[in-house]
Amino acid sequence: MSNKENWGSRVGLVLAMAGNAVGFGNFLRFPVQAVQNGGGAFIIPYLVCFLLMGIPLLFVEWSIGRHGGRYGHHSTPFMMGAMDKRALWKYIGVFGIFSNIAIAAYYCYLESWTLAYIWNFISGAFHGKTSEEVSAIFGNYVSLSNGTGGFDIMPIVFWIICLAMNTYILSRGLSGGVEVVAKIGMPLLIIFGIFLAYKGITLKAGQHGAINDGTLGLNYLWTPNFDSIWTPKVWLAAAGQIFFTLSVGMGSIQCYASFVKGKDDIALNSMSAGWMNEFVEVVLGSSIIIPISVGYLGIDKVAELAANGGLGMGFKTLPYLFEQWGPTLSVVSGIMFFSLLFFAGITSSLAMGTPCMSFLEDEYKWSREKAALTFGLVILVLGLPTVLFFNYGVFDEYDYWAGTVSLVVFALAEVVLFSWVFGIKKGWAELMEGADIKIPNVYKYITLYITPVLLGAVFIASLPEIWSKIINKDIYEKIGAATDSTVIAELQKTLLFVNISRIGLIFVFAVIAFMVYKAYQKRLKEGKNLTWVQQL
Ligand code: ALA
Repeated sequence: MSNKENWGSRVGLVLAMAGNAVGFGNFLRFPVQAVQNGGGAFIIPYLVCFLLMGIPLLFVEWSIGRHGGRYGHHSTPFMMGAMDKRALWKYIGVFGIFSNIAIAAYYCYLESWTLAYIWNFISGAFHGKTSEEVSAIFGNYVSLSNGTGGFDIMPIVFWIICLAMNTYILSRGLSGGVEVVAKIGMPLLIIFGIFLAYKGITLKAGQHGAINDGTLGLNYLWTPNFDSIWTPKVWLAAAGQIFFTLSVGMGSIQCYASFVKGKDDIALNSMSAGWMNEFVEVVLGSSIIIPISVGYLGIDKVAELAANGGLGMGFKTLPYLFEQWGPTLSVVSGIMFFSLLFFAGITSSLAMGTPCMSFLEDEYKWSREKAALTFGLVILVLGLPTVLFFNYGVFDEYDYWAGTVSLVVFALAEVVLFSWVFGIKKGWAELMEGADIKIPNVYKYITLYITPVLLGAVFIASLPEIWSKIINKDIYEKIGAATDSTVIAELQKTLLFVNISRIGLIFVFAVIAFMVYKAYQKRLKEGKNLTWVQQL
């Protein structure tokens, strides 16, 4: 985006920001996380994390973004540089470009599954299939197998279509591309979501083959259970979910916010987008997969699927369950569900494209089209291993390092920068500039003390897990326990791909850091050094 880029309207901005947040996290990740962490036991930590980390981080990121935009910066390295002149912040800002690229690399593949599933419903691929056969369709899809030992090119075709769509929309800019998609996609997503949530909640035992009422699943999710509230793992999962779902710690919110006008009400806008995300997650996200799956399969089976299913659970189970609703309603529901996922996904992946593009446009003076094409090509190269070696852990590896660990590290750094280095007084003044709403003063103190402490605690508590990931403890344990030589060979292959993925991610980070260094040198040479700091 060039500096001339702007949002067309406030509604468009809020819908694009909400679209950035609303994604697979809301419909696929949230239900699985909730079930894996004990249903009702998950909800309390989740809400606490939203109030004490999610909301303050939204304030911080919107403020960092608009503040950077005032000085013509739309990428986090230079936005952070505008708040403190020490070079360290520019390199920490690399996370805000890196995470978006690395997340988009696997996220776009997931997005392409939804296109394939819409097509499967239209072409009747699930019709008359047993639940095992429907689940096998997913297994074959991610193995690029045609089910009879041959290779299936279609997953790659859908993926490339998806990348091309993202690239094209990004090349149209914020108001001409991203905003148009958000204005069409978000209302449709909410309408489809309300319809499917209604079907989920009103599911009745004994009708269309259901064995339980839909409300059984809802109760499972919403009956508070205080037992595991003292388990750190549940808190880590809740914090991770809040980061992922709100897209905080990523760099995309700052980038979108850097294009708002100097006096726009970012306090209200940030709350509108954040609460819209929570409505979609907590109300719609919890009323579709869980009630319908529990209605047909029971709580134990759903818990088992969630334990093994990850983000794929909805793809494995829902098509078969929809099929029970008769020929017309199943196709309508299937198309609605996977279109809803597609809109949720694309409005998020577009937001992941803008930080990288803005950096190239601001610092290297590339045209929007060239920057969009470059983003598309980078995602093609970095995403290819997730497509080809999905079953060897590449996808999960990207998700862990870029979609989980990086978010916490970056969020911690930016809240420290905002509250303690730039200073909460100046930071709060930026947030409140042009605000029509009044934010309770207590939030200033939460942002100053509680959010950094909680983030630090989350990070420290994650260290043992991070370490066991680094040393590949799980994989080595499985190798140790395996007796079959084919299984051992496959696990060793997984080990290799996991290590290569990490090297790839480190390489991407290093390249971005080098480009930031070059851009900074260029600014110094052009005499633009520190002008933004002097203006503070
Ligand atoms: N916030 C986006 C999601 O929930 C990344 O999927």
